[in-house]
Amino acid sequence: MMLSLVDKLHREKVLSKEEFTALLDGFDKNIMQYLFSKSRAVADRVFGNKIYIRGLIEFTNYCKNDCYYCGIRRSNHNAERYRLEKEEILACCRQGYSLGFRTFVLQGGEDLWYTDEKLVDIISSVRNAYPDCAITLSIGEKTYEQYLAYYKAGANRYLLRHETANAEHYSKLHPQAQSPEYRKRCLYYLKEIGYQVGTGFMVGSPWQTSGNIAEDLLFIKNLKPHMIGIGPFIPHKDTQFAGFPQGSLDLTLLLIGILRLMIPNALIPATTALGTIHPKGRELGILAGANVVMPNLSPVNVRKKYILYDNKICTSEEAAECQFCLQERMKKIGYELVVDRGDYKEIDIS
Ligand code: 5AD
Ligand code: FES
Repeated sequence: MMLSLVDKLHREKVLSKEEFTALLDGFDKNIMQYLFSKSRAVADRVFGNKIYIRGLIEFTNYCKNDCYYCGIRRSNHNAERYRLEKEEILACCRQGYSLGFRTFVLQGGEDLWYTDEKLVDIISSVRNAYPDCAITLSIGEKTYEQYLAYYKAGANRYLLRHETANAEHYSKLHPQAQSPEYRKRCLYYLKEIGYQVGTGFMVGSPWQTSGNIAEDLLFIKNLKPHMIGIGPFIPHKDTQFAGFPQGSLDLTLLLIGILRLMIPNALIPATTALGTIHPKGRELGILAGANVVMPNLSPVNVRKKYILYDNKICTSEEAAECQFCLQERMKKIGYELVVDRGDYKEIDIS
């Protein structure tokens, strides 16, 4: 029954909500191995043994939002706040470029100190200095006009996880003022403008059901994002979710495999959160069908301040150390990091 669901997913690249729910509720180690043999074969056909790298620059941990799960939420007064100036961001890019990065991800809380004028200036400066690189933004919900202005300044990709597709579940993870409808609308704006778009969700967030995850999968199928980031929920001590259990490794890996079969050419990272809950989490993510890693290029003196969840890895290592470490880790499982923008490619592998 479960094996035939995996076969059907492989063939048709989607299942019904009921079928997804049954798979999520009923899988075991055998199903996982069966699924991964297929999802890994798909990833190998599309990407070979090449792993794309994205240099993550966490440029501000100020945030006007108050997501209940997040360590840099506005009302966490224990978080020590910082902002990087344009020159510091450019210095991260410079170091990243020399290490072989051709994608820079500018990520931050929703920080209104960075006006559109400042953001456009930062984006166009990076664009001018690195015409051959992709610039990915991950700075939250904005208006259509703002997204357009950043795009015109030279940004070409945008990450905005939808977090959960179910409105009722969304309202349990966020204050009233944050709207699940607007968040989804942002993703469609971004696509319309021409960004390569990434979305995703946390696995095992409080009150999440398998039905919710099935809805996430169907939302993703419908959106057809270029990138999909998922990672386990991990509690942060200074949030109201401190006492909740972390998300499951196996379920996260299963979902990476499912997403690979659903959208064969999607760019799927083995996330830092996955590496945080298991010493080989990122390797297991790659072996389940992920094809991207996102080492941190933020200056080491701010890394311990950009803490969304407890026990985050790589907060003391220099960029070059993580680069080397990941290169070795990937080599051990038969993969190699490549110097490449790693753009989304439209290809049919039916
Ligand atoms: N555990 C795991 N992931 C988290 N994120 C935020 N807080 C946590 C947490 N406690 C994720 C969200 C967000 C992304 C940047 O990090 O999904 O979109
Ligand atoms: Fe950062 Fe291994 S990737 S130390």
